[in-house]
Amino acid sequence: MQPLVNRENHTYLYRQVADIIRDMQTNGTLRAGERIPSLRQLASTLNISVPTVKQAYEELERIGMVESRPKSGYFLRASLTVNATPRKPRLAAKALPVSRQQLIEQAYNAIHVPGIVPLGICNPVAALPTNKALARIMRRVMSMAGEEAIGYGPFAGFEPLRRQLARRYLDMDMTVDPSQIVITNGAQEALTLALKLVAKPGDIIAVESPCYFGILELIESLGMLAYEIPVCSQEGISVEDVVQALERHPIKACVFSSSITNPMGALIDESTKQQLVALLEEKQVYLIEDDVYGDLYFGESRGIPAQRYAQKGLVLTCSSFSKTAAPSHRVGWLLAPGFAGQAASLKRALSCSSSLLNQWSLSEFIGNGEYDRYLRQLRQVLFVNKERMLACIAEHFVAGTRVSSPAGGAVLWLELPKRLDGNQLFQQALPSGVSSMPGTLFAPSDKYRHCIRLSYGLPWTDKVENAVATLGRLSKGLY
Ligand SMILES: Cc1ncc(COP(=O)(O)O)c(C=O)c1O
Repeated sequence: MQPLVNRENHTYLYRQVADIIRDMQTNGTLRAGERIPSLRQLASTLNISVPTVKQAYEELERIGMVESRPKSGYFLRASLTVNATPRKPRLAAKALPVSRQQLIEQAYNAIHVPGIVPLGICNPVAALPTNKALARIMRRVMSMAGEEAIGYGPFAGFEPLRRQLARRYLDMDMTVDPSQIVITNGAQEALTLALKLVAKPGDIIAVESPCYFGILELIESLGMLAYEIPVCSQEGISVEDVVQALERHPIKACVFSSSITNPMGALIDESTKQQLVALLEEKQVYLIEDDVYGDLYFGESRGIPAQRYAQKGLVLTCSSFSKTAAPSHRVGWLLAPGFAGQAASLKRALSCSSSLLNQWSLSEFIGNGEYDRYLRQLRQVLFVNKERMLACIAEHFVAGTRVSSPAGGAVLWLELPKRLDGNQLFQQALPSGVSSMPGTLFAPSDKYRHCIRLSYGLPWTDKVENAVATLGRLSKGLY
């Protein structure tokens, strides 16, 4: 038998302890209302310190799973977790044109209403803002670089940043030549370049279903068609579905997540990625992978981009620092070994170059070690927020709500009972100061009308908790 806690493991010891209690709840060893092992008892059983067990219990208390009773110890609360995850939809019958721009605009406008609780937007950095660290670094860069900092940077990007990115890929077992990386204005521009490089108007692009609406909007603006490949809440994309889709439709490219999907938060495992790349290479279909959430994993380690398994130059990797450092910096990149020269020219034609000052600052942020320290903290904050939001949803939402169990990232996907309308819920919650993202945005078809996406990428406060409770109350009223 494996030891219950593993000191070699990258997961913090207190997290491992919290997982043990969670497992005891899931497998029925501990029931609601029962006392959980005392601090001393568990510390001695696991051969770890009492403060470590206390830290675990405090985290479980914060997320509402246990309660401490004076002089009596810690008790398991009534099960608050929603056990049902969203159902996997069927493979689509045909590719569809996309028409979502209007609704996207409405949802975005809601996020910027002063005082609103922005559960609609996914901005993980808001949970642990970087503004002070980046302001300090930017001031240093400005004084160090002088006039150069406000000039045009190299078209393909700031060389030290490209080298740093290449070094980070080495940790993922990938040898990348910095000249193959083109710095872009966020991942959105990287996705634009990638789609323009491999497809033309009228082409069919396979997307995840549900899919991040920015990708759908891009497909819409480029006059392409979207074909939905269902995402299972646990395993993500299935290779069998892609095989069937390729047999039935002339798909030009697939746009899939590298490891953690948005909005489902599903984790795509390495063997699926390997099989996918082999299949797409055999069929001469491009894979555009989106890795913006790759560093926000809750498991032991980061997923490896599909690029690692590519042999024929058909994989184009898009990512950015928007979810991990500063969305306003608009710094992303495209790694496309098969298209490096063309990608750089297209970038130049579309937007000249990206902000040199922002690239320089991020390069310093990475170079001095702060970025990796920050990522470790951010992952922890997001994990705790996720648990808190799940507990709130279980307590307040209408019975029959199914909710994702994300392996990373900063959003939850909620499938409400079929007769509820996520657009209506979105509209009704606005006057109460709460924004959500209606499910309709996440597919070209109408199959997610009864779904919504909520973000836990914000500092957790009573106001946030009340906002989730408001949405829950409204969901009951609409039922
Ligand atoms: C899956 C996914 N890809 C791409 C983007 C766009 O990222 P960026 O802000 O870097 O353009 C987002 C932003 O929400 C996203 O969720």
